[in-house]
Amino acid sequence: MTDRVYIFDTTLRDGEQSPGASMNTNEKLRLATRLERLGVDVIEAGFPAASEGDFEAVSEIAGKIKDCQVAGLCRAGKSDIDRAWGAIQHAANPRIHTFIATSDIHLEYKLKMNREEVLQAAVDAVKYAKSFTDNVEFSAEDGSRSDPDYLCKVFGAAIEAGATVVNLPDTVGYAIPGEFAEMAKYVIEHTPNMHRAVLSVHCHNDLGLATANTLAAISVGARQAEVTVNGIGERAGNTSLEEVVMALHTRPNYLPMETGIQTEHIHPTSRLVSMITGMMVQPNKAIVGANAFAHEAGIHQDGVLKNPMTYEIMRPETVGLNKNQLVLGKHSGRHALRSRLKEMGYDLSDEELNLVFQRFKDLADKKKHVLDEDLEVIVTEGILRTAEIFQLTYLHVTAGTSVMPMASVELSINGRKVRAADWGNGPIDSAFNTIAKLTGTESELLRFSVSALTGGTDAQGEVTVRLRENGLVALGRGADPDIITASAKAYINGLNRLEYLKTHPVTASQTL
Ligand code: KIV
Ligand code: ZN
Repeated sequence: MTDRVYIFDTTLRDGEQSPGASMNTNEKLRLATRLERLGVDVIEAGFPAASEGDFEAVSEIAGKIKDCQVAGLCRAGKSDIDRAWGAIQHAANPRIHTFIATSDIHLEYKLKMNREEVLQAAVDAVKYAKSFTDNVEFSAEDGSRSDPDYLCKVFGAAIEAGATVVNLPDTVGYAIPGEFAEMAKYVIEHTPNMHRAVLSVHCHNDLGLATANTLAAISVGARQAEVTVNGIGERAGNTSLEEVVMALHTRPNYLPMETGIQTEHIHPTSRLVSMITGMMVQPNKAIVGANAFAHEAGIHQDGVLKNPMTYEIMRPETVGLNKNQLVLGKHSGRHALRSRLKEMGYDLSDEELNLVFQRFKDLADKKKHVLDEDLEVIVTEGILRTAEIFQLTYLHVTAGTSVMPMASVELSINGRKVRAADWGNGPIDSAFNTIAKLTGTESELLRFSVSALTGGTDAQGEVTVRLRENGLVALGRGADPDIITASAKAYINGLNRLEYLKTHPVTASQTL
C-alpha cells in the first residue's frame, strides 16, 4: 500500500532567492510550464508583495497553469495576503501560503512580538486567507528551532482557522535527520486536529542535510515536501526535488510512497533551470550532475556493461538522460525541428519557430550534431530573453602572440545600434571593456567560468559570469561554439539581468 507525497516546488520563489539567480517573467512562465509537465503538485510562483515584478510574474503564471496548484507566498498580514490573492485569484487551483516565525529568537529580535501575539497573527492570517479560498497553507518560519509544544499549539490554531496544510520549515538548515523526524512525529501526534491537514516540510541545506531531513520527516508521516529543482535557494540552497523524488522512486521497499513526478522530465527541467538562472549544476551533484551516471573506474565500466545494475541504482533514461541524444543536423528541416522541440516541451508559434530555425541552421553549419542541450540554448537565448535591453549584433576580436588584443563590438541597445572598439589584456578582456563602454555600465566581474555544453571538439562553449554593480549581483550565461562570443553573450546576459534588477526593485524583504 503506497502513500502519496505531494511535491511543492518553490524554485520560482525560494529558488529565485539564490544570490544572482533572478529570472524575468518570460523565463518564469517557461519554467512554470515545465514544472507543470514534470508533474509537481504545487508551484510556488513567487512572493507577490515583494515587488511589482513578482506580482506580475505570479499573475501570469496563475493565468497559464492548469494542471497544478499555484501558490503565492505572503506574510501574516492583510496587505500581503491581498497582494497574494490579487496575483493568484485567476489560477485554476490557487493556494495562499501565509507564514510567520514561531521561534523565540525570531519573536524577540525580528518580530518583537510575544507568543500570544504571534499565535493570534497566525489565526487572523489564516482566517483572512480563508475568506478568499479554501486552499490555505500556513508555515511556521524557523519551526525546527521553535518550542515543539508552542509549535503544535500554533499549528492546531491554524488548522482550526482553516489551514489545510501546515508546514514545518528548517529555515536555517540546522536540523539533523533523527531529530527532525522526531519533531515531525511529535507535531503529528500532538497537534490538535492534525488529521484535518497535511504536514509539509521545507528544509534548507546549510549542513548538507536538506534531503536527508525531508526524507526523515516523510518516513514518519509528512506528506508534502517543499523542494527546488537542482536544490537552488538561499545560501546553501533548499531540498532538491530530484533527490527526494528519486529516493522515493528508487527505495520503495524502505519508503513506500509515490509522487506524481514524471521522472523522465527531471533532467530537461534541471537543464532549463540552470540555463535560465545562470547557476551551473556541480558535476558531482546527485541525479542531475554531469558525472552522476559517468563510470570512470574500469572495474565499474566492466560491471555496468555486463549488467547496469551492478553499479547503477537507477537507469539514466529514468531521469531523462541519454534518450534521443543525437538530434538534428544541417539537413534536418523545419518539421523535424518543430517535432523535436515539441517533445522537449516547447510549443512555439510560427514566428518563434522561424527564429529558432534560423539559429538552428546557423549552429548546424558550425556543429555537426545539434543536441537537446544546444536546442535548449537556442530557445532560451532566442525566445525567452527577447525582452533584453542589450543585444550582441556583431563581434570581432584580434588576439595572438604578437598583436595587441582588440575587440570591435556592435550592440543593439533598446533597438538602437551602437559600435565601439577597445583593447584589453586578452580577447575576452577587450570584448568586455568594449561592451562596458557601449552600455555605460561599471560592473565588477566577480566570477568567470567556462565549460563545454556537450561532448565533442565542436561542442558549444558555455560561459557563466557573476557581476556586481551598486550592490546588485547577477549571473549571466552564454553559449556558442566560439568561446569569445560565448563570453560576450554571458557578459551581456549578466548586464541585462542587472538592468532588470535595477528596474524591478524589491519593496518587501525577500530575505525570509
Ligand atoms: O525557509 C523558510 O522558512 C521559508 C518559509 C517562508 C516557508 O521559506
Ligand atoms: Zn525557505
